[in-house]
Amino acid sequence: DAPETIFVERRDRVGLITLHRPKSLNALNRQLAREVLEALKAFDADDNVGAIVITGSARAFAAGADIEEMANLTFAEFYCDDIFAPWDELRSVSKPIIAAVGGYALGGGCELALMCDFIIAAEDAQFGQPEIKLGILPGIGGSQRLAKAVGKAVAMDLILTGRTIDVHEAKAVGMVARVVPSNELLQTALEAAHTIAGYNCPAVRMAKEAVNVAFEASLTEGMRHERRLFQAAFATEGQKEGMHAFIAKRAPVFRHR
Ligand code: HXC
Repeated sequence: DAPETIFVERRDRVGLITLHRPKSLNALNRQLAREVLEALKAFDADDNVGAIVITGSARAFAAGADIEEMANLTFAEFYCDDIFAPWDELRSVSKPIIAAVGGYALGGGCELALMCDFIIAAEDAQFGQPEIKLGILPGIGGSQRLAKAVGKAVAMDLILTGRTIDVHEAKAVGMVARVVPSNELLQTALEAAHTIAGYNCPAVRMAKEAVNVAFEASLTEGMRHERRLFQAAFATEGQKEGMHAFIAKRAPVFRHR
């Protein structure tokens, strides 16, 4: 079935997912979670796609989990029907995912942005984990990823006070990779994704895998993992092409498969 809560399109070698529930500022309900994950998996399996961008509207990337959908759920219902479980599958996507964030990225919206590989944000972006104001706490990795991204002090401040930070504070603490004018947000994100999609595809996936190991493993294990991936890169055609092109002083042409 065609998705109803998102737009899915391909721009050249970039897969673009646009969250679209304008009446609720892109609140993340079950249907949206299912549709985003389906689209991501399809892009991950598509040889014509080398990188992915997730964006929202000018007003909101996403204002969090859908409060109306959650409000009356009991512990037993939540436990037996774990409506947030689909988001865990985002970790299995091996191609890079860029979050292009304008407007509100709150609660689950902030967590979704943090789940992506990096964030490019518009001048008017706002980030926060306001769950504490609703009597709850982050539920799709915010307490873990925010702590890893910005350290204990800032993570505790945001999660315990529920305050919202502007894009400059988010950039200063390391949540955001780049800040751009609002009217250049999508273009900048698509260009970054396009650049990535033009590189040696296995090397791109290996690089993403290697950085992610840093969040799970000891330095020794992580270094070993990186070294094996580095050596494996020499089994790819793209490594030969990249290096021979450099030596011949020409632009490399990576074959995508
Ligand atoms: C459902 C939401 C929503 C949400 C906004 N809306 N956020 N509906 N779930 N998370 C709806 C509003 O009810 C309203 O609907 C419409 O979107 C526009 O929002 P307004 O509040 O009228 O806009 P504004 O005054 O500009 O305020 C914007 C806002 C505010 C600051 C973002 O909407 C807000 O505080 N939203 C909730 C943010 C939040 O608490 N997020 C955390 C959710 S819990 P109507 O019908 O009135 O027009 C969470 C848990 C994570 O994320 C767990 C894992 C996913």
